[in-house]
Amino acid sequence: MTADTHFAETIQSISAKDSGAAGRYHALSGDERKKALEGLGADELKTLTRLIKDAKKNSFAAASKRFLEIAAGNIKTPVYLIDETLIEENMRILQYVKDRTGCKIFHALKAYASFATFPMMSRYLDGTCASGINEARLGYEEFKKEVHTFGAAYREKEIRQILRYSDSIIFNSFYQLEKFGGMARKRGVEIGLRVNPGHAEVETEMYNPCAPSSRLGIVHDIFKEEFPGHKGIVDGLHFHAMCEQNSDVLERILKSFEKLYGSHIKGLKWVNFGGGHHITRDDYDLERLIKLINTFKKKYGVQVYLEPGEASVLNAGALISSVLDIVKNGADIAIIDASAETHMPDVLIMPYRPHIMKSGQPKEKKYTYKIAGPSCLAGDVAGDYSFDQPLKRGDRLVFTDMALYSIVKSTTFNGINLPDIGVVRDGGRVEVVRKFGYKDYRGRQS
Ligand SMILES: Cc1ncc(COP(=O)(O)O)c(C=O)c1O
Repeated sequence: MTADTHFAETIQSISAKDSGAAGRYHALSGDERKKALEGLGADELKTLTRLIKDAKKNSFAAASKRFLEIAAGNIKTPVYLIDETLIEENMRILQYVKDRTGCKIFHALKAYASFATFPMMSRYLDGTCASGINEARLGYEEFKKEVHTFGAAYREKEIRQILRYSDSIIFNSFYQLEKFGGMARKRGVEIGLRVNPGHAEVETEMYNPCAPSSRLGIVHDIFKEEFPGHKGIVDGLHFHAMCEQNSDVLERILKSFEKLYGSHIKGLKWVNFGGGHHITRDDYDLERLIKLINTFKKKYGVQVYLEPGEASVLNAGALISSVLDIVKNGADIAIIDASAETHMPDVLIMPYRPHIMKSGQPKEKKYTYKIAGPSCLAGDVAGDYSFDQPLKRGDRLVFTDMALYSIVKSTTFNGINLPDIGVVRDGGRVEVVRKFGYKDYRGRQS
């Protein structure tokens, strides 16, 4: 089929609301996608958004079976299993936002840094966002595209290397800007300031960058005094105030941000809307995000950056574990070879109850168990779950949505080994890309 025929078929299938339209759209080149979008009316664009979201949803539904099938095979546990094809589904959604808005999207390495899937991800995104020297270097060496670094405060002895790996550096105070800004400028690294946008809706204080007395972002009172004297050296503003949220929250944050900082944006190159956008979640309002970005770009004449982490790998990974033993103490307790404390620490910090495939709420199904880790921490418990069948030693449990903020946060506390990391390629082939052992544990002690 010629490119012209494919293009024509794509447009036809969008108009016909055909479920194959999403796949056809994604198969177009960048220029063709642009041309296709330019030719579509408002209703057709909305249709395309819906078709693209539906296609992603169907792929994810099919893949959950794949996690169970692999868990039922002879894969060694515990293992973080990342499904590359699912990450690619997420990438397509992010690419679609880029197509519709011309914004740039950087993957936040703090959420997920398994570079085995970076060659694929870097085909879709503009680069990475880093929190410091190691992430900046990983982004530079493994993702091989732009790197945008924000640190709450930089160390003098690291700044040269950070600048070497970064395309932009974002400062958290005017002191840091004065100290390191000249050096950044000399090296051709763009400069940003992180500001507190004055509004956030994150209920857990631990995850709220705008909580009272937060150190993250210059507050407006200080900004308005100091910025005019520094404007000449600043290329952009950055805010990050969201956590797993939809675009209605972004809309309210932008309202506050614009009220406080809008008069200072003219003449800048970019505004970075940070992370926390749950763009790849099924109920995420993509059309609203697209509208917000396009309106903002038009109003201020700046580029818009997004730096989501979770959205890149949402629901694209699992932690597969095995039941080691079952003990009783007023309840049936299954001790597994994965630990909440060391392998999924957000379960205890946030806290939240991770989902286990084919399980229900306590007592919802016939057999209820407390699922607990092998460490000596009394609270190393994932939660209470029920199952249709009694659990047996050797049974496999599949914890869902474990690609994000789990692998990057895992530890060897208690001398517990780190799970292997496996990647499902091409929708089926499993490649174990990393195994850990005693050396990794010992290497972190002295
Ligand atoms: C500055 C900054 N950017 C981006 C992110 C990524 O956020 P998320 O993974 O929730 O999208 C974070 C997360 O804490 C952050 O602090």
